[in-house]
Amino acid sequence: MRIAIYPGSFDPITNGHLDIINRASKLFDLLIVGVLINPDKKGVFNESERVELIKRSVKSIPNVEVESFSGLLINFMKNKNSKVIIKGLRALSDFEYEFQMALMNNKLDPSIETLFMMTSTQYSYLSSSSVKQVAAFGGCIKDLVPDEVIPDIIKKFKK
Ligand code: PNS
Repeated sequence: MRIAIYPGSFDPITNGHLDIINRASKLFDLLIVGVLINPDKKGVFNESERVELIKRSVKSIPNVEVESFSGLLINFMKNKNSKVIIKGLRALSDFEYEFQMALMNNKLDPSIETLFMMTSTQYSYLSSSSVKQVAAFGGCIKDLVPDEVIPDIIKKFKK
């Protein structure tokens, strides 16, 4: 069985993430969305909220699972029997960071491959942090995140 991992912070999931999940799920038997739990970098949404928002967004895609992990990505991948990391690229500015991570992961475990998928053009401007800024100042987040999670995001920023 070909299993790929799509890792990230997903604080919160955006339509850009969902686009990559949709497309990558067609290329593998199983796609596992790995939500990084980083105790040093507290996000707006906690671990279980992030996982829950993604699960709700992918419920119509049968071969996608969502799990959180901490520590090294390659150790999570070993546990899941996966050799392939999926990453989305939006712009040239993503490249340097992603290139460095891909090389480091390959150095730590040479059997790991990172596959990059180009974003669909309509999502090239989207990021979790821009969604949070828009939501924090009461802007419209429709079309930026999956419809199913809009109320949760609005609620989170309502004081
Ligand atoms: O959505 P993000 O924040 O760009 O995702 C980054 C992520 C989670 C893919 C990356 O930080 C990661 O894999 N962290 C786990 C720690 C690790 O394995 N580090 C070694 C590679 S440098």
